[in-house]
Amino acid sequence: MADNVGNKIAKNFSEDVPFMESGNFHVKGASNLDWGMKDRLSRIFNPDTGKTIMLAFDHGYFMGPTSGLERLDLLVPRLEKYVDCLMGTRGAIRSSVSPTYNKPIALRASSGSSILQDDLSHESMVVDIEDAVRMNASAIAIQTFIGADGQKETIEQLNKAVNLGTRYSIPTMGVVAVGKEMERTTQFFLLATRMLAEFGVQIVKTYYCDDFEKVAAACPVPLVVAGGKKIPEKDALTLAYKSIQGGAAGVDMGRNIFQSQYPEEMIQAVVKVVHEGYSDIEAYEYFQHLIN
Ligand code: R5P
Repeated sequence: MADNVGNKIAKNFSEDVPFMESGNFHVKGASNLDWGMKDRLSRIFNPDTGKTIMLAFDHGYFMGPTSGLERLDLLVPRLEKYVDCLMGTRGAIRSSVSPTYNKPIALRASSGSSILQDDLSHESMVVDIEDAVRMNASAIAIQTFIGADGQKETIEQLNKAVNLGTRYSIPTMGVVAVGKEMERTTQFFLLATRMLAEFGVQIVKTYYCDDFEKVAAACPVPLVVAGGKKIPEKDALTLAYKSIQGGAAGVDMGRNIFQSQYPEEMIQAVVKVVHEGYSDIEAYEYFQHLIN
């Protein structure tokens, strides 16, 4: 039986105290990593701001051609210049993304289910690490389903990815999955993000939640926040702003960019929030200025 009864609840996160200084590397928790890891992390996280904007277009790996992603070859060229990193599958990237962009790739390396199923929680690492090397991936992304049916197998697959990534100095981005029935509570994200970090990932992709500062403080590696389902642009910019203010090291946004009526303008407004210190209100004004 897990020691989950009578356990003292964590509450002292010292959110206002910066993460320990050890060296001058700009990525949280990465000071002691190998040069190759640091090089790849520096391609993802801008050394000047310490932040990243990932453009996520990997949804087709379980959803098929979702709205906005019908033609990757037409979409990605419109947006790539504004973002720090491209997140997609090897099939999408090899077929539809030009290597001349010279953008770091966060390679989606897990799969195993589709929207035809109720339970999406059974995923494995399906991309060989050698293929990630061939693609010059700057990170491999593995989905992990904490608290769901697929927990054990996805934890094993995540650890396998960390082992292989460590062998070749390729960072692993642990992706916190949220099942249909699962509540998006602070307690859940505290648990899931910390578990993934303790398994050894160098980046955690997660969702925004109440008391996000606590989640960020308790996670010793950078958090990158997913956008989630399409919401009004103003709200998506507030989500990005609150995430950065709460300690996120960036966003990994998909639908709130490519399902906007104005994808180029939206991504430029997100850049202002993530890299230039704009508030959500200022960024929305900027967005409106661009579209008018
Ligand atoms: C989920 O399908 C993928 O992991 C996406 O990359 C991730 O959820 C970010 O995309 P969005 O902002 O559309 O949620």
